[in-house]
Amino acid sequence: MGLLLQSLSMIILLMWFFCLPALRAQSTNGSSLSPARALDALLQAYAYKAFHRPKTGIPYEGAVPSNLTGINITALRLRSGSLFRYGVAKYNEFHIPKGVSEQPYVKRLVLVYQNLGNRSATYYQLSGYTYLTPVLGLLAYNASNLLATDLPELNITATRDPISIRFSDVKSAPDGAVAKCVQFDLYGQHSFSNVSSNNQCSTIQHGHFSIVKFKHRKKVQQMERAADVGEALHMTTVGNTKAPAATVTRTQPVLETEYAP
Ligand SMILES: *[C@@H]1O[C@H](CO)[C@@H](O)[C@H](O)[C@H]1NC(C)=O
Ligand SMILES: *[C@@H]1O[C@H](CO)[C@@H](O)[C@H](O)[C@H]1NC(C)=O
Ligand SMILES: *[C@@H]1O[C@H](CO)[C@@H](O)[C@H](O)[C@H]1NC(C)=O
Ligand SMILES: *[C@@H]1O[C@H](CO)[C@@H](O)[C@H](O)[C@H]1NC(C)=O
Ligand SMILES: *[C@@H]1O[C@H](CO)[C@@H](O)[C@H](O)[C@H]1NC(C)=O
Ligand SMILES: *[C@@H]1O[C@H](CO)[C@@H](O)[C@H](O)[C@H]1NC(C)=O
Ligand SMILES: *[C@@H]1O[C@H](CO)[C@@H](O)[C@H](O)[C@H]1NC(C)=O
Repeated sequence: MGLLLQSLSMIILLMWFFCLPALRAQSTNGSSLSPARALDALLQAYAYKAFHRPKTGIPYEGAVPSNLTGINITALRLRSGSLFRYGVAKYNEFHIPKGVSEQPYVKRLVLVYQNLGNRSATYYQLSGYTYLTPVLGLLAYNASNLLATDLPELNITATRDPISIRFSDVKSAPDGAVAKCVQFDLYGQHSFSNVSSNNQCSTIQHGHFSIVKFKHRKKVQQMERAADVGEALHMTTVGNTKAPAATVTRTQPVLETEYAP
């Protein structure tokens, strides 16, 4: 009976696991945006409100609704040709070199900057890692209609040097951990890369960026190894037969999840 129940719950667990990616894939459908993508759309609209007869090449700070205080946004309107030829030496933490182009082509575009502040870990959950900086976003949109909302992002790609991000106030990594850059694409996929000069990350694309603690995996492996050793020791003699005593009841190491943006 106990065994049957166990197999049943296993099957349910497995089904849940295999259905998850499908559910996630569906969430790219406009009717069920992820919270992070819904936030992007909202911040695009609020960033565009910062424009009042905007000059090109001047960053304008936007105001966010009161339920999102702690998040800062900026909007910068540029001619696409100027972005490609000159870049933007300094756009808050971002340094945009020459050679950045957008896809599809537009004559003018808006670069929306986001600083998610103390809400970083709410929208970009990375369990097992600690944010050492806020999550910053850099997204590009068509600038033809500054009253537009729900605009699709334009892809921007650095064709020569990468775009660099110089974070201010990076918290120090916890003991035994190494700081790594993390980058999220618009589909919620993340990747890690090395930090340079203690506070710099680089990217060839739009997205969301931060610095976290790395090496948690090593800790997990160590814990697993310890658990395996513990298990081996439990191979004790029961009567005259060697029996694994710790197959089912083995306690899994629990990882702490910290968010400290
Ligand atoms: C989103 O899904 C709904 C039904 O689930 C469908 O009718 C609609 O066409 C989809 N939209 C897009 C943009 O795929
Ligand atoms: C915050 O408020 C804005 C404007 O009232 C609303 O559109 C948005 O859905 C709210 N967002 C959250 C996360 O509560
Ligand atoms: C973030 O900070 C703002 C003040 O800057 C505060 O109003 C808000 O409650 C904080 N949000 C979270 C999730 O800590
Ligand atoms: C933008 O990039 C994504 C992959 O990152 C790709 O799937 C999409 O087709 C691109 N869109 C355009 C208009 O190039
Ligand atoms: C957000 O903007 C406010 C006002 O300009 C500033 O005081 C605050 O330091 C900014 N926060 C971040 C996280 O940059
Ligand atoms: C940009 O917006 C203008 C005005 O809404 C539209 O005519 C044009 O097709 C848009 N360009 C792209 C690439 O979406
Ligand atoms: C990242 O840093 C590690 C450790 O310092 C080094 O071994 C590795 O080669 C670096 N990777 C890249 C792509 O620079």
